[in-house]
Amino acid sequence: VGIPTPRHGSKCDGAGFDAAQAASSVERGDALGPALSSLDAIRRLGSPSIEACVLVETTPLDIQSGEPAISHVRAAFAAGMHVITANKGPAAFAYRALAAEARRAGVSFLFEGAVMDGVPVFNLVRETLPAVTIRGFRGVVNSTTNHILSALERGESFASALARMQADGVAEADPSLDIDGWDAAAKTAALANVLLDADLTPQRVDREGLTAASGARARSAIAAGRRLKLVATATCHADGHDPLAILDDQANALELDTWPMGRIVITERDGGLEKTAYALVSDLVTVARRIRARR
Ligand SMILES: NC(=O)c1ccc[n+]([C@@H]2O[C@H](COP(=O)([O-])OP(=O)(O)OC[C@H]3O[C@@H](n4cnc5c(N)ncnc54)[C@H](OP(=O)(O)O)[C@@H]3O)[C@@H](O)[C@H]2O)c1
Repeated sequence: VGIPTPRHGSKCDGAGFDAAQAASSVERGDALGPALSSLDAIRRLGSPSIEACVLVETTPLDIQSGEPAISHVRAAFAAGMHVITANKGPAAFAYRALAAEARRAGVSFLFEGAVMDGVPVFNLVRETLPAVTIRGFRGVVNSTTNHILSALERGESFASALARMQADGVAEADPSLDIDGWDAAAKTAALANVLLDADLTPQRVDREGLTAASGARARSAIAAGRRLKLVATATCHADGHDPLAILDDQANALELDTWPMGRIVITERDGGLEKTAYALVSDLVTVARRIRARR
């Protein structure tokens, strides 16, 4: 019923409209309609009297503040809306407070797409591992830098590998967020906040991104039978059977250290936009199931 954007105009109609048609008109370069601020749109369209009002939030992340997503999520809860987001900001900066606000408002707060697209991570733990204690995790969770490292191993240039990720829409709008390790730090904070009940922000995560020396380091690692990886964890095992070492190109993986289930590794061989979109759909199905269960 509503799509507010800063540069492409806005479309809001409480009775609904054809989303595919709206997407085609944006692709043709036409504005959706008169501009409307996203907060105004949320306040106008959200209504506690509507049973299934859902905000799907997909704005870019300001790594200093977690905004604008946190304000969007808060406005949605205040308007009685469920929230689904692929944005790391809300879980990485304000999970504890937002989860409490969602509980008070009686709505869902889901963010499956924030880590590894639609591969089950948060819902794996939430839905299928009841009573399990997560003791830690380590993962390769940033496709852009894993692709660049794989390309550097093959002797390709940093710039051409990054350009490919930008052309595919996989790199962040500001690619320094990927390269400097901020995206991985935000995912680490989100995972720690949700799975380990931490109260972190990305700024408190130790971070080492890619540098001009990464090509030489990646090539000398591979010559020694090892691989250079940007790993989202505080510890790193370097035995020959490390499940993270086999990851090529855009592959991601997350190893959960659990009690009593031990280590569980989930792998995404190829990332991509459809897979992020699937994460939003899977959260939407969760909201629908919860609504049905309450009837
Ligand atoms: N791309 C991926 O593979 C992927 C994977 C997992 C998670 N994510 C996350 O998903 C989110 C969206 O990614 P994306 O690749 O779709 O980004 P994108 O192509 O840059 O699109 C961002 C959208 O947000 C709108 N926007 C920007 N600033 C806004 C503001 N202040 N208020 C309201 N709307 C605003 C933009 O409007 P305009 O149309 O006017 O520019 C645009 O429509 C990001 O948080 C990203 O980290 C992306």
